[in-house]
Amino acid sequence: MTDQKLELELNEAGRASATPGSVDDLGILDKTLHLVSNCALNMACEILQLELGNMNLRLFGSPGKFYGQAQAHVTQAQGTRFGFYARTCPNVESIVRSTVQSHFQSDPTVAPALLRMHFHDCFVQGCDASILINGPNTEKSAFPNRLLRGFDVIDDAKNKLEAACAGVVSCADILTLAARDSVSLTKGVGWPVPLGRRDGTVSLASDTDNLPAFTDSIQVQVQKFADKGLNAQDLVTLVGGHTIGTASCQFFINRLYNFSTTTATGADPTIDPAFLPQLRALCPQNGDGSRRVALDTGSQNTFDDSYFKNLKNGRGILESDQKLWTDPATRTIAQRYTGTIRGLFGLRFGVEFARSMVKMSNIGVKTGSQGEIRRVCTAVN
Ligand code: HEM
Repeated sequence: MTDQKLELELNEAGRASATPGSVDDLGILDKTLHLVSNCALNMACEILQLELGNMNLRLFGSPGKFYGQAQAHVTQAQGTRFGFYARTCPNVESIVRSTVQSHFQSDPTVAPALLRMHFHDCFVQGCDASILINGPNTEKSAFPNRLLRGFDVIDDAKNKLEAACAGVVSCADILTLAARDSVSLTKGVGWPVPLGRRDGTVSLASDTDNLPAFTDSIQVQVQKFADKGLNAQDLVTLVGGHTIGTASCQFFINRLYNFSTTTATGADPTIDPAFLPQLRALCPQNGDGSRRVALDTGSQNTFDDSYFKNLKNGRGILESDQKLWTDPATRTIAQRYTGTIRGLFGLRFGVEFARSMVKMSNIGVKTGSQGEIRRVCTAVN
């Protein structure tokens, strides 16, 4: 947590405005102010607490009059910060972005691939690019990671960055930026990424056991996320990453023909009966298990909230996806993204996704003198 000064004016009608420039410098995602303190704007409270984007603001002023300067408490993980490479590699973001973009243009499926790769990196040994290391018994070789793709995009960006500023930018930061760029390339909301991660030197297949599995109950999913400092809201929001990309039939075929709960059709009763024939046509009973199906039917290339509308309609693909809706513990959160609950509790998926991604991208980061800056992303130095 760091304190930064932010010029902010709040008038008596409760409308706030920030000095142009100071807000952008701090990398705020959502410029709307949300009141989080329990005292109304026109009441006499000496400290008013507000949320602005990914920041928590505490405004100091005399009761009823909150003009003047505000103190902004910017939530950043220890060690990572905005503009980390401003002097040492100023073009890092544009180099990563243009690399991801050129691969995306010839193969749009790299966007979901990179987003998933970043998630699998962060959940094992922290966001330290341990997923990228080649070799027997590394994370990459483990069962849950065997279908990851997009490694060539990271290698390409790394080569360009080594040419521009040798030995400076970590593979962990490249992957974090590439995940963000994948969201914005698919028309999602972008967000500022605090940087300064260093690369890990340990990558073990056996460490991947704690990755969430599509057969996990909600309780287990919540626990696995909690173990990484992420709450149920982060879980539901981040799994919303399934708004882009595909899954292979092998991961959900049991839901179509021989589900654990016995039904007349043999199918998972939470699947919309009108949707079942469509899924069965895509994944025939003894067909090719590697055939890929959109995780967000009708909108697999666009980063939007339709994934949650599909869940509401019994059109989730993975068992773990649909459970986010059938389990009351997570449904109330998912409902906020479908517009089911109006008013105060309505949340915008894009903004919340960005917020949770900043949290996820800071899991167990190595900074300062920890780890190393790899010369090539596929091997430790
Ligand atoms: C409970 C947690 C999660 C489970 C059980 C899960 C499971 C899966 C599975 C089984 C697939 C299909 C893989 C394949 O067939 O290649 C998949 C794909 C995907 N996952 Fe997740 N996932 C989870 C959370 C997340 C999170 C947090 C993100 C990102 C923030 C994410 C992003 C993706 C993306 C983008 C794809 C599509 C990959 C592609 O098209 O290549 N997932 N996930």
